[in-house]
Amino acid sequence: MKFFIDTANLEEIKEAAALGILDGVTTNPSLMAKVGVSGEENIRNHYKAICEIVDGDISAEVIATDYDGIIREGKELAALHPNIVVKVPMIKDGVKAIRWFTDNGIRTNCTLVFSAGQAILAAKAGATYLSPFIGRIDDINWDGMDLIAQIVHIYNVHGFDTQVLAASIRNPMHIVKCAEAGADVVTCPLSSIMGLFKHPLTDIGLAQFLADHKKANG
Ligand code: E4P
Repeated sequence: MKFFIDTANLEEIKEAAALGILDGVTTNPSLMAKVGVSGEENIRNHYKAICEIVDGDISAEVIATDYDGIIREGKELAALHPNIVVKVPMIKDGVKAIRWFTDNGIRTNCTLVFSAGQAILAAKAGATYLSPFIGRIDDINWDGMDLIAQIVHIYNVHGFDTQVLAASIRNPMHIVKCAEAGADVVTCPLSSIMGLFKHPLTDIGLAQFLADHKKANG
């Protein structure tokens, strides 16, 4: 399972990259706004800066919602760096654009996915990645993990190549459950990745080992 970090914050990206477990980055317009990056040129420079930190797939989201606009913007984003994956929303023109990108060698991440039906459409269009949003489903009192398991099952049964990129992750247990369900990728906030380290018995055990070593060695 690949690990992506879900942020536009360069310091967080560097911190996760330094762990040696990072395979890529996802961003979205809200995450860009959160770090105060605005304006077309600044946003594109920010993507380039991310590409310099992480040697892996970097999702850059289009703003256009019409077919021609998505194609134009996607081509420009893909030209920024070979690792850019064009992130396209799950809408009618988005699916048509994903088909065009697929046929023209541009990799895509279909985002804002909340149902198995949408997952089938994106796979049929040849999306490289599919981003079902776990946390936002949990937020409305449904089970986001059920959707991940359902999509993984459908893709396996039918041999779709589209990779399931579990998004909208809120905690470390989401990551573990995604691994169990067979998600190809998880994209997580830094806090959820760091949460994976935590276990009180590790802390207690390490303290004991160090104390015993000190007692024996002075
Ligand atoms: C990433 O691809 C998604 O845009 C992101 O995971 C959404 O997360 P959120 O639901 O926490 O905003």
